[in-house]
Amino acid sequence: MKVLTVFGTRPEAIKMAPLVQALTADPDIESVLCVTAQHREMLDQVLWLFELTPHYDLNIMKPNQTVAQITTNVMLGMEKVLQEESPDIVLVHGDTSTTFATALAAFYQKIPVGHVEAGLRTFDKYSPYPEEVNRVLTGHIAELHFAPTEQNRRNLLAEGISDDKIFVTGNTVIDALLTVVEKPYTFIEDVLRDIDFENKRVITVTCHRRENLGEHMASIFKAIRAIAEEFSDVEIIYPVHMNPKVQTAAKKYLGEMERIHLIAPLQYQPFVNLMARSYLVITDSGGMQEEAPALGKPVLVVRRETERPEAIGAGTVKLAGVDQETIYEMTKTLLTDPEAYGKMAHAVNPYGDGLACQRIITALKTTVEAVAAEADQSKV
Ligand code: UD1
Ligand code: UDP
Repeated sequence: MKVLTVFGTRPEAIKMAPLVQALTADPDIESVLCVTAQHREMLDQVLWLFELTPHYDLNIMKPNQTVAQITTNVMLGMEKVLQEESPDIVLVHGDTSTTFATALAAFYQKIPVGHVEAGLRTFDKYSPYPEEVNRVLTGHIAELHFAPTEQNRRNLLAEGISDDKIFVTGNTVIDALLTVVEKPYTFIEDVLRDIDFENKRVITVTCHRRENLGEHMASIFKAIRAIAEEFSDVEIIYPVHMNPKVQTAAKKYLGEMERIHLIAPLQYQPFVNLMARSYLVITDSGGMQEEAPALGKPVLVVRRETERPEAIGAGTVKLAGVDQETIYEMTKTLLTDPEAYGKMAHAVNPYGDGLACQRIITALKTTVEAVAAEADQSKV
């Protein structure tokens, strides 16, 4: 069985790395890896950590690229790779434009697609934008759906996806997380080495979503600034996404402030260990809503909705929205009310047990022959 795995951004790389490692180690599988490099430096950090060497690198990233540019460049690049490799199945992940464009390119060549992290929905097509639509469309192209949770499976069933094509596997992010989180851990990065984790309360912040750029990001950052001004025992650590628009906003609202550390994107291992030593996490990231609960860290999600309701149900994640006052108040409550903090700060694992990759490989072995034969018939 020849499996072509394709990804392009940091979060996809983190979540697909353990799967590519497992595919490569399996003697029954020929594993081929293609990166689109929708991200460059942030992708390369992950490839390096997990010791992955892609067979193909489309190298498409351009500063301030538009979604249309990503989509067309990925499709054109993937057309050639798919023709050359002719895999039995193509694996894509989640909701990025790399994911959707690759799935569409594979469909045009009648090559079956397996969708990892399938079935998450906000039911609002503009939030996250354009990811919600990328994920829905990929779901309708894919032959096999690897859903992290039962809720994700139900979302797919409600859209008419056949139950025998859905596999509830857990999220591969937990597989990745468990390989890098360490106790004790020594930071080598200057800012992190100097933080007094014993006596300070660290808030890890990230924020990058396209729909938050502009007004929302300004509100989020002003709330965070107010918290840093008010609480002298709080240190804010914010590894800023490389998107130039995010960099500019972060510097404008949070730059040169005591107790706020704007730093370069961290390698996955120090980042996870930073979260593990933080008091709380404020983010609009998808992946961190899955990782932080597994580490027992409260998360305030600075978005209007989430496609990851499981951790809200489990109590470790709260939706804070994008209103400055609400974000400030919710953060303040967690800093001043031990009972409210205690209710959120417990480790839960709604997203898996670290065995998602093995489940995906088992499902591939039992189904790929049939879906590949079906696709072959349609080529006649
Ligand atoms: C993309 C995904 C989003 C995912 C996010 C993870 C789409 C439409 N969006 O959003 O789903 O959550 O990645 O981070 O697929 N840049 C660099 N170096 C890098 C990475 C980015 O310089 O290593 C800069 C470039 O100027 C680039 C910009 O960041 O143009 C934005 O990157 P892009 O992939 O277009 O969108 P993201 O907002 O990162
Ligand atoms: N992450 C990282 N270094 C950082 C910030 C985040 O390794 O400096 C990891 C984080 O642990 C998570 C992923 O990157 O696994 C999240 O990526 P991002 O926020 O870019 O995308 P999203 O999760 O929103 O899709």
